[in-house]
Amino acid sequence: MQQAAIKFEPYLQSKQEDLQARILAAKQKLGKRVVILGHHYQHESVYRHADYTGDSLKLSRYAAETDAEFIVFLGVHFMAEVADILSRPEQIAILPDLSAGCSMADMANLAKVERSRRELSKVLDFDATITPVTYINSAADLKAFCGEHGGIVCTSTNAPKILEWAFQQREKVLFFPDQNLGRWSGYKMGIPLEQMPVWDPDLPMGGLSEEQIKQAKILLWKGHCAVHQMFREQNITRFREQYPEGKVISHPECPFEVCLHSDFVGSTEYILKTVNEAEPGTQWLVGTELNLVNRLAEQMQAQNKLVQFMSHVVCECSTMARIDPQHLAWTLENLADGHVVNQIKVPATEAQLAKLTLDRMLAVS
Ligand code: 13P
Ligand code: SF4
Repeated sequence: MQQAAIKFEPYLQSKQEDLQARILAAKQKLGKRVVILGHHYQHESVYRHADYTGDSLKLSRYAAETDAEFIVFLGVHFMAEVADILSRPEQIAILPDLSAGCSMADMANLAKVERSRRELSKVLDFDATITPVTYINSAADLKAFCGEHGGIVCTSTNAPKILEWAFQQREKVLFFPDQNLGRWSGYKMGIPLEQMPVWDPDLPMGGLSEEQIKQAKILLWKGHCAVHQMFREQNITRFREQYPEGKVISHPECPFEVCLHSDFVGSTEYILKTVNEAEPGTQWLVGTELNLVNRLAEQMQAQNKLVQFMSHVVCECSTMARIDPQHLAWTLENLADGHVVNQIKVPATEAQLAKLTLDRMLAVS
């Protein structure tokens, strides 16, 4: 008779050193059957176990290319969903803690997007006029919605290119759920701010007049990342006073003013690459999640580079932090013992439509 899965609770009592050793042992036992993918916001205590690290785009490519039987994702829910969608049907995507969501992704849901489509259809022919573009930080059913309506997915790396593609299809874009990424990418393309009004899904007609909708190039969904929303232009001003030669680099989920006053704006992978390749002795102010910045600051010390976090407030992604050594050890020991825990499985029809948009994105970028 098959034994039951190992229970999680006892892991809460385990010492950190023991957990680290157990993770290594279980991983070794599984060998090539498992691949661990780690997002840059993960805490060092689990990030060090990743076989591959990256931003959302890079990790989705790894997920599409790996032959491993189990894809264990050190990240948040939408990332594991993407891994499931892009991998082969017999491969298994796993999220060590199912409560690791993304609060920004939760700011849009299918019911609200469908309602927005119905409301916009009163003013214009939605499918003939609007390309829906969803940030990869969104649930699989929203990616499927984009698949059904000629739309596409984007990441923080490829958003400008994806928008170009979207405008080649139709004259307007409905961009969800991150207004900041949408606004910054549109601005970089030369679209005036007045032509990128905020669409508030909780107000009738998004809170916009018929005229505003007709004039709009991009309708920006009223959503944002609570972590990146904390960064302020004043943080940049203070840094520049202290280090006039210093450089500022931010993630495009930051508020518009922060992006505008930064020297560089880009994905987590881009931020790491840019600071890594900079001259020794340079100073950097970094506007993105704390775990990434702490790790980078430590690594750059050897090259005498100063890396400062943009806020005095602790801006950690609390949902990313749910993936801890306890959950990772529990997941891997169960797999090594023949039990699949916390599998992420997107329903087949939804996955098919979502895959269409993700493949479209990978081809365009
Ligand atoms: P990246 O794709 O740049 O890693 O961003 C993912 C994310 O969630 C940033 O908050
Ligand atoms: Fe989501 Fe923000 Fe966390 Fe990124 S940092 S996973 S956008 S909540």
